Amino acid sequence: MKGPISVLWGLRSFCASHGCLACYFGTIPEHREQMPTAPGVLSHLSPNDLTTAEVFAFAKTLAHSPVGRVFLAGGEPLLWKPIIKLIQVLKAGGLEVVVCTSGVALNQPDLREPLVELGVDAVSVSLDSADPAYNDRWRPPRREGDGWEAVVSGISALIQARSCAPRPKVGIYSVITRLNLADVVAVPELAASLGCDYAVPQPIALDPGHKLADTLSLTPEQLPQLRQRFKDLYSANLPITLPSRTYPGQIASAVAQPTGLVPGCFGGDTLFFIEPDGTVWDCPSSLKIAATPPQRQRTIKDAKAQDLFPAPAACAADCSLFSVDCVNMWPLTGFDRILTAAGPEAPDA
Ligand SMILES: C[S@@+](CC[C@H](N)C(=O)[O-])C[C@H]1O[C@@H](n2cnc3c(N)ncnc32)[C@H](O)[C@@H]1O
Repeated sequence: MKGPISVLWGLRSFCASHGCLACYFGTIPEHREQMPTAPGVLSHLSPNDLTTAEVFAFAKTLAHSPVGRVFLAGGEPLLWKPIIKLIQVLKAGGLEVVVCTSGVALNQPDLREPLVELGVDAVSVSLDSADPAYNDRWRPPRREGDGWEAVVSGISALIQARSCAPRPKVGIYSVITRLNLADVVAVPELAASLGCDYAVPQPIALDPGHKLADTLSLTPEQLPQLRQRFKDLYSANLPITLPSRTYPGQIASAVAQPTGLVPGCFGGDTLFFIEPDGTVWDCPSSLKIAATPPQRQRTIKDAKAQDLFPAPAACAADCSLFSVDCVNMWPLTGFDRILTAAGPEAPDA
């Protein structure tokens, strides 16, 4: 039986694909001026990524551990040369594998075809808008020609390569800011028109001090419009899987009251986060990482999954650090609904 724990694994720091202005890894120009040094703070320039040998040594220990599902992210996982070999190891170990990608690499047959052949369970592609200009403004490609059109053609190519096979499920993740509320509906509509299986609009998570927070972060002022957009989304009955219907309420409470209590939290119980330098955190929330005592800081380097990830407790601990970061973890922990969905969302109850 598949283990109950999911791991979000930021495999590599560098992202040769896009220079997203609001990325939680920060931006390269800013970090060239000043590298962040606080524990857990990510950078695309990190010189401390694990070696390939260290990554593989740990990956081999995941088989028969309580970890059942691995989300491979980064950085851009598909542009790391050993990625297909790593997926091979994970699949051979009986794990479910979800690849989180910018999507451009899916245009390369030598990357897209092995994803189908190896039975990767899902591919989540990031696309923030149905409007190419908006998407490419906030997710600028590093190379000309790698913008919105290339992402959409990568998605279509993967769906075509999958043909009638049940896996990988293909979906679109989009970051919702106060500037693209219409994309709560427009991106899932686009996903459905491309033949995708799921779509997840996720609220932007920025520290209040981030220089784009005043431009992009959601505030209580946008809540009536946000609620209406989600209502429109669920009543559109698109033939794709969407996050659970409790999700818009979770977004609204995170936006209205940025911190609070999560009873029986999955972080550190059924969900963990691994950074490219191998550090293991209970979850990717910046509040949680900042509150982690040094004795709880662990690494996958020279470690075994069985030792790092014990079987979940019957009763998970409460967490008092609820924030918009956490909301983005709900669709990950609820990923079963995407992998097991047979077809369109059930109509409104
Ligand atoms: C950092 S990317 C790494 C994987 C891959 N390169 C990609 O583009 O999907 C993982 C996901 O986090 C999202 N993301 C990055 N910064 C974010 C932020 N500040 N708030 C919400 N989501 C964010 C991205 O849009 C993407 O869907």
